Amino acid sequence: MQTDENRLQSTPLRVVVVAGARPNFMKIAPLMHELRQRPRFDARLVHTGQHYDEAMSKSFFRDLGIPEPDVNLGVGSGSHAEQTGRVLIQMETLLLEEEPDALIVVGDVNSTLAASLAAVKLQVPIAHVEAGLRSGDRTMPEEINRILTDSISTWLFTTEPDGDRNLLREGIEGDRIHLVGNVMIDTLLRNLERARNLGTLDDLDLEPGKYALLTLHRPANVDDADTLRSLFGALEQIHRDLPIVFPVHPRTSAAIEASLGGIKPCLKMTEPLGYLDFLQLMANSRLVLTDSGGIQEESTALGVSCLTLRENTERPITVSEGTNTIVGTNPEAILSETRKILDGGGKSGRTPKLWDGETSRRIVDVLERELGS
Ligand code: UD1
Repeated sequence: MQTDENRLQSTPLRVVVVAGARPNFMKIAPLMHELRQRPRFDARLVHTGQHYDEAMSKSFFRDLGIPEPDVNLGVGSGSHAEQTGRVLIQMETLLLEEEPDALIVVGDVNSTLAASLAAVKLQVPIAHVEAGLRSGDRTMPEEINRILTDSISTWLFTTEPDGDRNLLREGIEGDRIHLVGNVMIDTLLRNLERARNLGTLDDLDLEPGKYALLTLHRPANVDDADTLRSLFGALEQIHRDLPIVFPVHPRTSAAIEASLGGIKPCLKMTEPLGYLDFLQLMANSRLVLTDSGGIQEESTALGVSCLTLRENTERPITVSEGTNTIVGTNPEAILSETRKILDGGGKSGRTPKLWDGETSRRIVDVLERELGS
């Protein structure tokens, strides 16, 4: 005879995992893997379709072995309100049909907030992976997404102790905060060997340690013509001594067309790259220049010097413990910090605690314990 407890133990825990944009995909990969390995979970994957093309989405699913999404909402590009609104409306219908025990969201993109908003109104508890990060800059759309998502989440999984402090300061109860480490580094460690075997450097005619890698896509940097022009001026100067490889984000391509009349900077430009090719380039580069959040963390884990082309970071551990330096967008500052690194003055850094490849296991342990009780 089945006791109530037995019945409870055998009822699957239904969770819906949401991903929408490129930086989400490397975060959900190890979570989906962990969830699908555990018989206790019935995990459904929803792709909102915020990013949708081969380079920004499909290649990541293939490279990282992420299961085909169970549902694709196909929301596509649009203004913030359009994107958020479309995800919100469709997620409400989906959650009403699925009746999950929990929603799992990652990161800080519009899809993260929109899915969370739909869930909280239906009283579906939310697990936010990569909670607590704060840049202090409310002009960044991601900062608003972070603050709002955290404020309505039940479980807040943080990557660094600063995240815990930020959440406690905002009044979130300590027992909802779990310092678990970094899921993105789970993916990096799992794929580094595969990436190292690729011929990416040969294909781009590069030698290990003899090039810099650049990414640029923040609206504050690329949507303003003067900022973009002045950044490219400094980067072209560096490129004369150390070739700069620049996989160009679609937003940045559009900005080059719109603001610079299509005149491309004199750098080694490529299309957006897949995860493994990019990882191979990052691991072998002399220096990374970026305005991305995730790349600050990945370069720290790889021990590669990183100059962040923003005035702030929501990931301060990459500066205090890792290889990251915040340089902003002033051309002189970019040139002088680059010079320091090339003259042997780069930070050596260490990998932060719990960035050890086991974060998704720790997250799913917490969820299994809490949802199963
Ligand atoms: C979004 C995220 C940002 C993240 C970035 C990574 C928000 C608020 N921003 O910004 O946090 O760092 O993704 O890429 O959610 N496009 C394509 N193909 C695609 C998707 C988009 O060409 O598959 C083009 C569209 O024309 C669009 C532009 O890229 O206008 C920007 O996409 P969007 O989703 O609006 O924001 P991102 O700048 O990519």
